[in-house]
Amino acid sequence: MTPDIRHTVLAAIAQDKSNVAARLADLHHVTRQSASAWLTKLKREGVITASGAGRGICYQLVPLVHLRRIYARSNLHEDRVWREVIAPSVQDLPANVRDIWHYATTEIVNNAIDHSQAKEVMVVLLRDALNTTVYVVDNGEGIFSKIQRALNLFDPRDAILEIAKGKLTTDPVHHTGDGIFFVSKVMDDFNIYCDKLNFMHCDMGVDMLLEGIKGGPGTKILMRLVNNSIRNLQSVFDQFAVAGEPAFAKTIVPVRLAQHEGEQLVSRSQGKRLTMRFDQFKVVILDFDGVKEIGQAFADQVFRVFQQLHPTTKLVPIHMTECVENVYRRVIKQS
Ligand SMILES: Nc1ncnc2c1ncn2[C@@H]1O[C@H](COP(=O)(O)OP(=O)(O)OP(=O)(O)O)[C@@H](O)[C@H]1O
Ligand SMILES: [Mg+2]
Repeated sequence: MTPDIRHTVLAAIAQDKSNVAARLADLHHVTRQSASAWLTKLKREGVITASGAGRGICYQLVPLVHLRRIYARSNLHEDRVWREVIAPSVQDLPANVRDIWHYATTEIVNNAIDHSQAKEVMVVLLRDALNTTVYVVDNGEGIFSKIQRALNLFDPRDAILEIAKGKLTTDPVHHTGDGIFFVSKVMDDFNIYCDKLNFMHCDMGVDMLLEGIKGGPGTKILMRLVNNSIRNLQSVFDQFAVAGEPAFAKTIVPVRLAQHEGEQLVSRSQGKRLTMRFDQFKVVILDFDGVKEIGQAFADQVFRVFQQLHPTTKLVPIHMTECVENVYRRVIKQS
C-alpha cells in the first residue's frame, strides 16, 4: 500500500465509517477484495477497528494518543504546555507539521493566559493515524463578549467578523492581533465555541457562524491538522504579505459574516461595520461567497464612500453572484 493509498483509506473512514470498501473500490478502480485487503492491513497495524459483519461492517480510526491536562492559569507559560503535552505527541511528524503545531498551540494557549482571566486552562490532544486535534479550553470571560465589550459592538456576532478580518487586539500595548487570524489559516479546521456561538474556519470551505445552545463558560478552541500536511508556516504568512509593506498587509474577509441570519446586506450601517478597520490593510479581499445579493446603499458605502476616504486600501471583491456584481459595477461607475 503506497502512502497515498493509505491516506485515502484513512480519509475515507474519517469521512464515513460505513461502506468503506465499496467506496474505496470505486475511487481507486480496484475490486472490493483489494480494498478490503488494505483495510485488513490497517486493522492488523492497530490504527483502525472494525465492527459488524459483511456489507454492514463499519470502520473507525483508533485514538492513538489521548491526553488531557488542566493547568492553573496564574503563572502558566505557553512553552510549558508545548513541552509537556504537545511536543512529545507530535515529535515523529514531519518538521513542517511540528512547526505549525508549535506556532498554533503556543499562540492559542498564550491567548487563554493573557486575555481570558480564567482560573484554569484545559488542553486536550487527540491523535489518530490521520489527524491530530487539539482543544484549548478556558473558563474565563469568553472571547466574543470580551471583544464586544472592548469594541463596544452592538452584537456579539460582530466580534466574529472582527476576528475574521485579523489585526484585532484588545491589548495593543502587548499584542498585535495576528494570532487567531494566522492560526486559523494554518489549520485544516479551526473552531471557536463561546457562549452559544460557533465560528468555523475550514481550509476546504468558507467561514461560517453557527448558533446553537449555550455551552460552558469561557472559550473553547478546536484545531485540527492532518498528520502528513504539506502546508508550510512561512508560505501562509506570505499569502497575506504585500511586496514592500510590513508583514500582514493583506486580509481576506468573508462578507457573509456581516450578514446575520435572515438579513440582507442593504444599509450604510452594515457597510460601515464591514469596512471598520479596513484602513489598517493595503489590500482587502472581499469574499462574497454565500452572499446572494447586496443593496445599493451598502455597496455605495463600501466601494465608493470608504474607498474615497481611504484610497490607499485596495478592495478586491471575489466570488460575486451576477446580482452582487451588477450593483458593484453601478457603484464603481459613479465613483
Ligand atoms: N481565550 C480568550 N478569552 C478571551 N478573549 C480572547 C481569548 N483569546 C483571544 N481573545 C481576544 O481576541 C483578541 C484577538 O486574539 P489574537 O490572538 O488574534 O490577537 P492578540 O492575542 O491580541 O495578539 P497576538 O496574537 O498578535 O499576540 C484578543 O486581543 C482578545 O481580546
Ligand atoms: Mg494572540
